[in-house]
Amino acid sequence: MAGSATTRLISGLYSRSLDVLGLLRQRGGGEAATRQAPRFSISRTAQLVGRTAAAIREAEKDGRLPTVARTESGRRVGYTLAEINQMRAVFGTRPWRAPEDLAAVIAVQNFKGGVGKSTVATHLAQYLAIKGYRVCLIDCDSQGSATTMFGYVPDLDIAEDDTLYPFIRNAEISSLAGVVRPTHWDGLFLVPANLKLYSAEYELAARIARHEPALLNRLAEGIASIAAHFDVIILDPPPALGTLSLSVMRAANALLVPIPPTVVDFTSTTSFLAMLYETIGALEERGLPIDLRWMRFLATRADEQKSMQRELLGLMRNLFGETLLRTVLKDSAEIDNASARLMTVYELEQPVTSRETYQRCMTYLNAANLEIETVVRLTWPSHADRLREEGIL
Ligand SMILES: Nc1ncnc2c1ncn2[C@@H]1O[C@H](COP(=O)(O)OP(=O)(O)OP(=O)(O)O)[C@@H](O)[C@H]1O
Ligand SMILES: [Mg+2]
Repeated sequence: MAGSATTRLISGLYSRSLDVLGLLRQRGGGEAATRQAPRFSISRTAQLVGRTAAAIREAEKDGRLPTVARTESGRRVGYTLAEINQMRAVFGTRPWRAPEDLAAVIAVQNFKGGVGKSTVATHLAQYLAIKGYRVCLIDCDSQGSATTMFGYVPDLDIAEDDTLYPFIRNAEISSLAGVVRPTHWDGLFLVPANLKLYSAEYELAARIARHEPALLNRLAEGIASIAAHFDVIILDPPPALGTLSLSVMRAANALLVPIPPTVVDFTSTTSFLAMLYETIGALEERGLPIDLRWMRFLATRADEQKSMQRELLGLMRNLFGETLLRTVLKDSAEIDNASARLMTVYELEQPVTSRETYQRCMTYLNAANLEIETVVRLTWPSHADRLREEGIL
């Protein structure tokens, strides 16, 4: 095939792929601008707010809370996350960290591709937002998978200036705030990514080689510029050891490593640990130490029907001890189906598969995310009393 025919073929395929993405989005959660986060029933709301349903109704009656929207038949339509957060403010049950507590900056990292990094990062971000934390999810991957889960088609909807890229390359920009955008989840903000971020890898590598090692610190600086507004900042890096991944490691103060229990993934995670060890050394030599408060492994995409996987899970448990989260994220058709709609499981109003599969999936997603939430809270002195009351400390 002649060169021009090849490029025509590829560009044709590219534009048709964009059409397909647009279609999947339309069939699923729709465009970012029109999306709405799920509503919560009064009983779930009461649980999330930390007050009884009666206390909420009382506050609505006496005007401390606005009256809730009702259907024509007089039924409550359910509360939005924004309404729930308003209740938390009125009742004093917001779980925010104290200003002296360190904002958690969690890198969901493994240099292996397809292990579930973006899935874990987006579900964790939305879980924490539902719990009432102030969360920022930073998509550091030019593939833009996390961005897609919020209803954007990165190559159509996101410009280079909407991403991390301008901040990282221009020392004159003093804050990352300009690219932090609200999402349809109250309290959850996103820094989106698109393919342009791939150029950052090359540009940064060249400039760092030409004696600008401090560039590896730019993402850390950007995060420092917004951290006061958030409890948790989650970083979703690309699956390779490049300058962006190094920047992510430098910026993070916590590391969550998704790892499917297969021999191939286990092998690459072992290499990841070796590379991490070298990376930490290399960054330290440049005067850019990595200071992790905690590190956890999370078994993902597990199929416990397979004896080999069960065996490997046992091995991982022995090896990683308590750094391996107790919960295993099983391979679930619900996650697959939600992502095919450019959505997360938390966003689904009803099961895509069966109620049972959906419930099972929700149960282990919530359990894994609760474990992570607890590890984060354990680093916050202001949460010590509450953790004692909950019997965790
Ligand atoms: N527990 C799971 N059950 C079913 N499908 C899953 C699960 N976790 C992830 N997936 C699917 O696997 C694919 C890869 O997941 P994901 O994009 O999260 O991995 P990743 O590590 O971020 O990949 P990359 O390295 O390319 O960034 C996606 O299609 C996702 O929907
Ligand atoms: Mg990813």
